[in-house]
Amino acid sequence: MLTGGGDCPGLNAVIRAVVRRGERRFDDEIVGSRDGWAGLIEDRVVPLTVDDLRGSLPRGGTVLGTSRINPFIVADGVERVFETVRSQGIDAVVAIGGEGTLSCTRELHRLGLPVVGVPKTIDNDIGVTERTFGFDTAVSIATDAIDRLHTTAESHNRIMVVEVMGRHVGHIATHAGIAGGATRTLIPEEPFDIAEVSDALVRRHEKGRWASIVVVAEGAKPIPGTMLIPEETRDVYGHVRLGGIATLVADQIAKRSGIETRVTVLGHVQRGGTPTAHDRVLSTRFGVAAADAVHDGAFGSMVALQADRIVTVPLDDAVK
Ligand code: F6P
Repeated sequence: MLTGGGDCPGLNAVIRAVVRRGERRFDDEIVGSRDGWAGLIEDRVVPLTVDDLRGSLPRGGTVLGTSRINPFIVADGVERVFETVRSQGIDAVVAIGGEGTLSCTRELHRLGLPVVGVPKTIDNDIGVTERTFGFDTAVSIATDAIDRLHTTAESHNRIMVVEVMGRHVGHIATHAGIAGGATRTLIPEEPFDIAEVSDALVRRHEKGRWASIVVVAEGAKPIPGTMLIPEETRDVYGHVRLGGIATLVADQIAKRSGIETRVTVLGHVQRGGTPTAHDRVLSTRFGVAAADAVHDGAFGSMVALQADRIVTVPLDDAVK
């Protein structure tokens, strides 16, 4: 079993569930790969037992460690993964990850690796599953932050701009914006017009002492030509680096409206700490289903949530 990509609340709950189901139901012997695919490339695997994982259910992060390293970007990476699998006597790999990890999992399955995927990300942006675990926790943390910003905003008659994660989708922003009663929520799916946003805030504040909350998804974009934004930069794995749009939005609002405006970037706080009860339950259901999928021989598939039932779907569909 391995956890790849960014960490996410609920990872340990999945690991624990796979191990409990595997050990208790099927008498499996389970090992964990350290730091995602890196562990299988470098032959760094550790035993995982029910006893090892006691107390892990409410813990954030991942006891296995994680990384964005994948065998396709490392010299001889794929061969080294297959060599570790052979030398360790591994019959199946459960890969828990987001889009990047699952795409890599799909490619390795095409090359003959027996794999089952588990969808993970706070962004909730994996096709074919209605929810990924970690999303509910991130939304709860963002909503709590918005509630707290409300009271300080009200005391000062300010506009508070809060940036939330989500990469190229606005699920966290939309849910936290609705739950927190935001005045405006800016999401990547609907490019915004900063003049229109600012005018709406001015009209609202003209009516009296109104605190306003503007939630900005990190991937939100202005309508082309309406606001200057810096060129995109990428990390070493080719992922676009997001973050910072809220500061530009807050600057523009302050200049255009003349109303005191402050910015809060929630960042990795949304990913840290203990998962909500909802995410613990979803993670546990995914973990049990992943162990069952291995024993059903459902390789090349991913566990998913559809109409509140756990199903398996082809990895091909999941990463489209
Ligand atoms: O995909 C999860 C996520 O937290 C995104 O919401 C965010 O853009 C990204 O990961 C941050 O990545 P890193 O931890 O590498 O800064």
